[in-house]
Amino acid sequence: MRILKVLVTGGAGYIGSHTARQLAAEGYEVVIYDNLSRGHREAVSGFNFVRGDVRDKDRLRRVIKEEGISAVLHFAANSQVGESVENPELYYENNVAGGLSLLSVVLETGIKYFIFSSSAAVYGEPQYVPIDEEHTLNPTNPYGETKVILERALAAYDKAYNLKSVSLRYFNACGAHMGEDIGEDHEPETHLIPLVLKTALGQREQLIVFGKDYPTKDGTAVRDYIHVDDLARAHVISLKYLLDGGETTCFNLGNGNGFSVLDVIKAAEKVTGRKVPYKFGNRRPGDPAILVASAEKIKRELGWEPEITSLERIIQSAWEWHRKHPTGFAKR
Ligand code: NAD
Ligand code: UFG
Repeated sequence: MRILKVLVTGGAGYIGSHTARQLAAEGYEVVIYDNLSRGHREAVSGFNFVRGDVRDKDRLRRVIKEEGISAVLHFAANSQVGESVENPELYYENNVAGGLSLLSVVLETGIKYFIFSSSAAVYGEPQYVPIDEEHTLNPTNPYGETKVILERALAAYDKAYNLKSVSLRYFNACGAHMGEDIGEDHEPETHLIPLVLKTALGQREQLIVFGKDYPTKDGTAVRDYIHVDDLARAHVISLKYLLDGGETTCFNLGNGNGFSVLDVIKAAEKVTGRKVPYKFGNRRPGDPAILVASAEKIKRELGWEPEITSLERIIQSAWEWHRKHPTGFAKR
């Protein structure tokens, strides 16, 4: 079998670095392309790494041609909802202009397969849960808008140029690699599980629980936490699907279980054996009450199912990473 070389944009980031390892384990040759604006060189040591920006068409064109790339997995983006509301230009410029710039080079160089990191943020405030892929796309922030725009471009590029793609709509990515020494290290960190664990480590005095009057079992918001290794595996399966002649499509990636903020705190206290002090604050603007995925479509069509479904196991993997690297990659 011919060994395929794939380009992983944003591969020095959290989800990209986990996926790069699974791709390599499955026999793909991986080239990481990342500008390190938010990623970590240490997350991809041992990989073929190019420091570059997806908006730099000349650089991309050269790398794709010289390396003989056959498929692209596109993770590179800015991905904080709050930041996208405060600084939408960054999001339209990097996620939309950057994504379209990459796609132009993909078309020009004759690449036929593309996997796109989309998000549950495309749905906005859910009209029903669990959310399936038929749910209307109605993002409530610029970040989600940028993902919808790229998904729509991908649908049009298939019709016009025969570019085959899978858009993977992740729910709440979390946890750390079950075998290797990599994990989540965003700066600034805004995600719940790392913040809870940083509080358990004593790096933060207390966690602020955003809202206690949601229409949920305990009044705090409910999310679908999906382990990053399960996400990574879905990319490998989706790539194989495209290489086998699959049509352009999108899939939700979630656990199918909803956990409240208080559930996460309780599970973290159990896993760490430490108290996680918290207090209630206001709701965070734009946060839906409940986001839970139906991942039936990818299960039915590609046979993917999450394997690490227990919240405690997910938190355990993240805890091992945070405890070992309390200041992340930089000072390990
Ligand atoms: P991350 O910030 O850890 O990784 C993104 C990587 O992209 C970083 O290494 C960054 O340096 C790189 N990058 C950004 N702009 C670039 C550019 N112009 N050129 C080259 N590299 C660039 O984020 P993540 O959590 O790993 O998310 C990866 C993808 O998944 C993103 O597209 C994000 O929107 C999407 N996503 C993430 C989550 C989540 O819960 N983390 C949920 C849904 C979707
Ligand atoms: N939360 C707190 N306190 C905190 C941080 C978060 O109470 O200090 C709450 C949030 O209000 C939310 C839940 O914990 O209810 C999870 O928040 P995260 O910031 O960890 O994740 P989000 O659900 O806001 O967003 C994440 C990704 C998005 C993606 C979305 C899809 O960051 O990219 O999941 O579900 F679109």
